[in-house]
Amino acid sequence: MVKESVNLTINGQPYEFLVGEKFGMIPPSETLVQTLRKRLELTGTKESCDEGACGCCTVIKDGKAVTSCMILTVECDGSDIVTIEGLEDPVTHELDPIQQKFIDCYAFQCGYCTPGIIMSAKALFMANPHPTGEEIREALAGNYCRCISHYTVLEALDKLAGVESDQYEVVKEAHEEDE
Ligand code: FES
Ligand code: FES
Repeated sequence: MVKESVNLTINGQPYEFLVGEKFGMIPPSETLVQTLRKRLELTGTKESCDEGACGCCTVIKDGKAVTSCMILTVECDGSDIVTIEGLEDPVTHELDPIQQKFIDCYAFQCGYCTPGIIMSAKALFMANPHPTGEEIREALAGNYCRCISHYTVLEALDKLAGVESDQYEVVKEAHEEDE
C-alpha cells in the first residue's frame, strides 16, 4: 500500500511529510540523503557516489549506521534518525567525544568523508563502548577517504576505545625518514 505520509524523528525533532508529487511533498523516489540535505538543510551529511560505495552519507537509523543514499525516505516511516548535527550535547553544546578526538588527532584533511566516518564510529560505540581494533576497522569498512586520512582516523578511534597500538609511531617514523 502506498503511504500518504511519513513520520520521522530526526535529531530528536519529530517531522511529518506528505508523500506525493505536489510541491512540498516527498516523492516516493526521494532518498533519505536528499530529504536531509535539500529539504531540511542538514548538509553535514554528504552525498558523493550516490550508490552505497563511499559511506559519505552515513547516518544512524534506529541505532544502526546506514548509507542514506540507498534508502528511500518513505521506507523510513517511524524511524529515529541521527545525523552529524545531532551529536553535540543539546544542553551544553559540547561536541561528542568522537568529534573531539578527531580534532585532537587531526583525523581529517578536506573533511568531506568525516561526518560519515564519525556516524559509522558513533553507531559502533553506541553498541559497544569498548570495541577492539578489529571491530573498529570492520565498522569503517564501508567508509572511504580520498585524502588518505585513515591512519589518523584509526589512531583517534583506537585511542578513544583504549586500544593499545604502536603502529602510529611506526608510520610517523617512516614518514620522518622519507623527509
Ligand atoms: S553517497 Fe551514499 S555511499 Fe556514497
Ligand atoms: S578527509 Fe578528505 S575525503 Fe577524507
